[in-house]
Amino acid sequence: MCGIVGYVGPKQAQDVVIEGLRRLEYRGYDSAGVALVSDGRIAWAKKAGKLANLEKVLSESPLPGATTGIGHTRWATHGAPNDTNAHPHLGNDARVALVHNGIIENFAELRAEVEAAGHELRSETDTEIAAHLLESALSTGATLTGAMQQVCARLEGAFTLVAVDAEDPSRVVAARRNSPLVVGIGEGENFIGSDVAAFIEHTREAMELGQDQIVTITREGVEVIGFDGAPAEGTRYHVDWDLSAAEKGGFDWFMRKEIFEQPRAIADALLGRHDRSGRLQLDEVRISDDELREVDKIIVIACGTAFYAGLVAKYAIEHWTRIPCEVELAHEFRYRDPILTRSTLVVAISQSGETADTLMAIRHARQQRSKVLAICNTNGSTIPRESDAVIYTHAGPEIGVASTKGFITQMVAAYLLGLYLAQVRGTSYADEIARVVAELRDMPDHVQRILDGADDLYALAEELEGARSVLFLGRHVGFPIALEGALKLKELAYLHAEGFAAGELKHGPIALIEPGLPVFCVVPPRGRDQLHDKMVSAIQEIRARGARTIVLVEDDDPGIEEFADTIIRLPRVSTLLQPVAAVVPLQLFACELASRLGHDVDQPRNLAKSVTVE
Ligand code: F6R
Repeated sequence: MCGIVGYVGPKQAQDVVIEGLRRLEYRGYDSAGVALVSDGRIAWAKKAGKLANLEKVLSESPLPGATTGIGHTRWATHGAPNDTNAHPHLGNDARVALVHNGIIENFAELRAEVEAAGHELRSETDTEIAAHLLESALSTGATLTGAMQQVCARLEGAFTLVAVDAEDPSRVVAARRNSPLVVGIGEGENFIGSDVAAFIEHTREAMELGQDQIVTITREGVEVIGFDGAPAEGTRYHVDWDLSAAEKGGFDWFMRKEIFEQPRAIADALLGRHDRSGRLQLDEVRISDDELREVDKIIVIACGTAFYAGLVAKYAIEHWTRIPCEVELAHEFRYRDPILTRSTLVVAISQSGETADTLMAIRHARQQRSKVLAICNTNGSTIPRESDAVIYTHAGPEIGVASTKGFITQMVAAYLLGLYLAQVRGTSYADEIARVVAELRDMPDHVQRILDGADDLYALAEELEGARSVLFLGRHVGFPIALEGALKLKELAYLHAEGFAAGELKHGPIALIEPGLPVFCVVPPRGRDQLHDKMVSAIQEIRARGARTIVLVEDDDPGIEEFADTIIRLPRVSTLLQPVAAVVPLQLFACELASRLGHDVDQPRNLAKSVTVE
C-alpha cells in the first residue's frame, strides 16, 4: 500500500515525482504529497484525496525549482486520510522530509520518547516519528545515510522509508524492511519507486533491494548497505515491459483494457511451458523432480481473488495428481497452527507479490521446513524472492485495482503446476496431459470470442443498473467463479452481491430469492452430467420463486432456454477449464455496471492494489 517515489538528477524533480505518483496511484489514493530540496530548505505540498488535488495546489502555489525530491500517494493506516496525515512528514526543524509505506509497530513508545525530548508532532501517523528521529540523528553530525541506519535499527514492523535532507541536495536515501522498494538506474540521474512503473518512462534498468537494506542515490550512482552498515549489493535487472503497457491504450479504464488483454495474457502464461508434444517444462520451478515426487500434501494460500484461483486449483490439482490439496486464506493460515511438514508443498498465489498476509504465511511455512512455490505476476517482488520456486504468470502490469488478467493467468499457472506434478509423478498419462495443454492453448481464442460479444454484457448492465442485490451460483469449479463474480460487483459497483455453491441453496440462501432478484448461474459443461443436471434443477427452483436468471452455459446446451431470462454462451471446454471462460462475462458485467453507476472503476473506494500491511 502507498506509492513512494524519489528522484535525483538534472530534471525538475517535481515533474518526475508527480509523473511517478500518477503511475503508482493504484497503490493508494487517500492523499498525495511531494517534498523538494531547494536552496538549503525543504519545499513541500500535500493534500488529501487523489493526486489531482495535489496538482491543483501546486498549480495555485508553485514550489521552487529543484532537482532532488520525493513523493507519496497514501493508503491510510494510522490516522484519517486528511491533509495533516498526508506524507511527506517533516522533522522538528523541517530539515528532513520523509515518506513511508508500511506500519511502524513500535511508534507509540518512540513517539512518547521524542515528545518527552520536546519535539512537537503534528499528525496522527506512525510515520512522522521516523522523520523526527532522522533529524535528531542528523543533528549529531551523521550523513542522511548514517542517520537512516540509526533510525532503522530502532524501528519495528514493515516499512519502506524515503528521505531527503535540506542540507544535502545531492542524495535521496531509502530503506526497506518487509515492504517494496526498487531503484531505477538512469544516466546522470537515479530513481526510487515502490515499483518500476514509477520510473519506467525514464529508465528500464532497475535494481531490487534485499531485506533490511538502505540505498543512497545520487546523480553519480547508487550505493547499498545493510541496516548493520555493511556494504551490500542489490540485484540488477532489465524491465521487459514499456510505458505503453502501463497506459490505457484507448480504453476508458485500465480494468477494461486488462480484461481485453486476457487472450494475450493467457497465451503469454503458456509460452515456453511445453514442447511440441505437450510435455511440460517449468524451468523456473527450482524444486527438484525428486522433491516433487515426495510431496504428500499441498496447501494453497492466497487472499481475495487469488484465493478463488486457489479454489479452482484445488479441483484440478487433486484430480490430476491425487495429492490432497487444501486452500486457505493466507491471513488465517498461520494463526490456526497448520500441520506442515517437509513433504508439504505450499503454493502461494499473489498477483502483486507484495501481499503482507500471504508473505507472512510463506515465512511461517518455510520456518516449518515446508517448500513454498509462488504463483506471481510481478517480477522481482518480495513473495517470489522469499519462496523456493516461482511460476510467473506473465500477465504484464495490472494497474486496475480489481484483478482480472492477474486472476485468469493465476488459474492457468495453477493448471500448469497440477499438470507438471502429474507428469513428474506419473499420475496422468502423457497423452492426457498433452490433451489438456492443447485445450489450454485454445483458451485465448475462446476468451476472445466472449470479448467480441461484450456489447451483450454491457446491455445487461444497463438493464440491471437499478439492482440492489445480485446473487451468483455455481457448482464444482463454477463455485469459485460465483464467488469471484460477486466480489467484482461488491468492490466495483458497491452492491450487495453473494456467491453460493448451488447445492447450498436449500440449506438457507434460497430464502433470499424474491421476484426480480438477478441471479447469475454458471452451468457446468454436460461432460459431468450429474453436476449439469443438478445445476439446472437449482435454476428451476429459483426461477419458480421469481428470480431473474442469467445463465452462463456452454454453446448448444439445449433445453436451458426455458429456465433462463438471459443466456450468456460459453465455449465448449472441459469442466476443469471452464472457469477461464466463465469469469470473463462476469468481469465485463461488473466493469460496465460500475462505470454506469459513475464509480471510479480503476480505483474503487477504500481499496488499494497491493495490500502491504497485515
Ligand atoms: C480483487 C483483488 C484482491 C486481490 C487480493 C490479493 O479484485 O484484486 O482481492 O486478489 O488482495 O492480491 P495479490 O494477488 O496481489 O496477492
